[in-house]
Parts: sequence; C-alpha cells; structure tokens
Amino acid sequence: MTHSLTTGPSTKQEQEADALRRDAEDPGHRELFLVPPAEGGDYPESAYLAGNSLGLQPKATRTELLADLDAWARLGVEGHLEAERPWLPYHELLTEPAARLVGALPEETVVMNSLTVNLHLLMVSFYRPKGRRTRIVIEDTAFPSDSYAVRSQARFHGLDPDATVVRLRSGGEVLDYLAREGETVALVMLGGVNYLTGELMDIPAITAAGHAAGAVVGWDLAHAAGNVPLSLHEWGPDFAAWCSYKYLNSGPGALGGVFVHQRHLGDPSLPRFEGWWSTEQATRFRMDPVSRPPATADAWQISNPPIYAMGPVRTSLELFDRVGMAELRARSVRLTAYLESLLDEIVPSRPLSVVTPRDPGRRGCQLSLRIERGSAAELAGRLRREHGVVTDAREPDIVRMAPTPLYSTYHDCWRAVVALADRVQEES
Ligand SMILES: Cc1ncc(COP(=O)(O)O)c(C=O)c1O
Repeated sequence: MTHSLTTGPSTKQEQEADALRRDAEDPGHRELFLVPPAEGGDYPESAYLAGNSLGLQPKATRTELLADLDAWARLGVEGHLEAERPWLPYHELLTEPAARLVGALPEETVVMNSLTVNLHLLMVSFYRPKGRRTRIVIEDTAFPSDSYAVRSQARFHGLDPDATVVRLRSGGEVLDYLAREGETVALVMLGGVNYLTGELMDIPAITAAGHAAGAVVGWDLAHAAGNVPLSLHEWGPDFAAWCSYKYLNSGPGALGGVFVHQRHLGDPSLPRFEGWWSTEQATRFRMDPVSRPPATADAWQISNPPIYAMGPVRTSLELFDRVGMAELRARSVRLTAYLESLLDEIVPSRPLSVVTPRDPGRRGCQLSLRIERGSAAELAGRLRREHGVVTDAREPDIVRMAPTPLYSTYHDCWRAVVALADRVQEES
C-alpha cells in the first residue's frame, strides 16, 4: 500500500502512535458496543464511521431484549401488567430519558412509530393552511422522505405541492424569506443537522423568526438527537421528531421520538388522529366509545407499542443518561476536530473538499466530503472492502464520515484518512 498521509513532519508510524496516545488519554465507551469485523485492511475491527446512518449495537441490547421476550414466554397475556417491565405502561420508561436527551419536559415527549410517520401525525395537528398562509418552507437538501411528506401534506389539503413547498438553500435564506414572505408561510420544517452536509442549523434563531412571522415551526432532528445538545423546551418550536437508529444506536428501523411544546398540550382545538393509545391509561380498559386524551404528548400515540422495538431504545437511552450529552459533545468536538486536521493534510492536493462548516458550533460529529471525480458509492465501497473503513455515500458525490463519541476512536479517524489518501489519487 502507498499511504501518503506523511506530508507533515511526522511519519505514518508516528501518526498512528499519536492517534493511539489520544485514545488512551480520551477514551470513549467502545467496549460497550459490538464493532463489526473489518472486511479488508490491516486491522480486525472496522473503523466504523457510519453512526450517522446506523449506529452500532450496544452489547446490553441483546440481554435486555431477551428478558422482554422471556416475559412473554413466562406470562403470556399477563405480561401486560405483571412483566418486570409491564407492557401496558412500557413506553413511559422511555419518556424521561428521551426528554432529557432533547431538553424537553417529560410531558412534551413520547417515543413511538417511525420518523416520517410521526412527522405526518404532527403535521396533521400543526400544518393548518389558511387563506394566503399555505406555504411549507424546507431546506433544498432536505432528506427525500421529508420532501415527499410535505408535498403529500400539501396535496392532502387540496393544494398544489409545487406552489406550496418552498425549498431554500441555507438558514440565512430561510430567515430572509421569512422576513419578506412570512405572511404566506404556514409551516417551517427543517432538519436540525442537515443529513447531507452535516450543518447544524441555528434552531433557536430560526424558530424565533418563524414564530415572529406567524408560522408554525417544526424540526426533523434525525441527525441531531444524540449528536448535539438540544434545549427544545427553551427554544420553543411547536414540534419536533427524530429517529433512534442513528446516534441513538437502537437498531434498524428503530422507534422515533416526538416533542410537542407544552403550550399545545391539552389544546382541544388541535386536530389529532386517534386510537386507543391516545386515550388516558387509567380509563383505557373501560372501552368507552369516546377518548379522553391526556394533556401530554402521549395523546399523539395511536396504537399499542411494539415492546421488542421499545427495549433497544430504552437500553440506549440509559447509556446516554449514564454518560451524559455534555461529556459526549465535548469528546465529539475533539474527535471531529482531529479528523478535520488529518483531512486538512490531504485535501489540498486531491480532488476533494469538506463541505461541512469548519465552526464546531455549526456542526455535529459528521464531516461530509465532496469528491470531484468518480463515484462516491464506489469510493465508500473500496474504503470498506480494501481498508475496513465504513463510511457512507450519498450519490453522486458526497462521502460522509461521522466519528461518534460513544464508540469511535482517534485511531478510526486516522485509519479513515490514511485509506482515503490511498484511494483518492493526488492531482498531478
Ligand atoms: C433527516 C431524515 N428524515 C427522515 C428520515 C426517514 O426516516 P424513517 O424511515 O424512520 O421515516 C431519515 C432517515 O434516514 C432522515 O435522515
């Protein structure tokens, strides 16, 4: 192999020793996770930098999941009330830790469903086009599911999605648009951290500007929850939703979280879709024909929850509680700065650029690289197969690398940049 990350004063060996020294001084919690074996390269474990897409499995998850399965085997239907973690109120075990994670009150928070389903349920309540105020503002690089969701909401209200959905390129453009056209905007719904570029939006400023313009403001926090500290109650958006399979390490398709601000709880004028889990728990089994929704985010629930999908979220949230977001964020900033400093050495001589903001206050852990030649998917495939470095590609030209503070190491970052230097030829 022709490693060419040797342009600085140090040799490759010295750089590797430096990475290992940093890991000894600033360890994460890798020992709590199952790290996939490397498909290629010189090391047994993957350098796993795809936690922005699917986080790794905590070792505790399997045991906890099996305990929930055992309760079903032992108790049958009685598990609803008699399991060690009874199924009837099971979701409540997730509420407080999820609320702490996003800076919300417990009554503002519920874990349920998947992300896009939750965005729809929230838009049922909060997208209320009226008169001239019909538009939905999203970012031009919104995740496709969000784009499809808002277009279908426009259609649901009998509106033309092309005229209703406004796609803007940056937080600055959103603020300008709200200042100019605010009275036409019914809903601002943006990604807190952009999935493609890794940019962290100014959530408090955009929320305040949306409200000043008379619009409702909601956030898709798929790439923010568990990645950056959040203070949703204080920042005051109307709603937010996130998934748990990325930074929250709860497994593929894991349940999502929902935030509804306190000022909307118990408001009978808000439309909501309902089912038996929307009604208060105390009287649910009276089987009344009319619901009695609680004045909490639980009122947005519809069905009884999938218990075996709740267990992994509970296990993961316990880990976040134990370590704490402040400690994780501090390590995250150090780890991503280290990755960036290594990239700085190779990027100037190669057809590559980092498109994520350099300011740590404007990003989470992810750095997105734009490659100027070749296919991003092909590059990510070679990094994985030939070097055991797991990144992810967003075609045509973005490769994302996300050192996550719970389990990624400085050595992972170093391996990733050495592999990238090998795979992307220097410009002659
Ligand atoms: C920003 C964002 N929004 C929405 C989704 C879709 O999530 P789900 O399939 O859980 O609805 C994703 C999935 O990766 C995402 O990253």
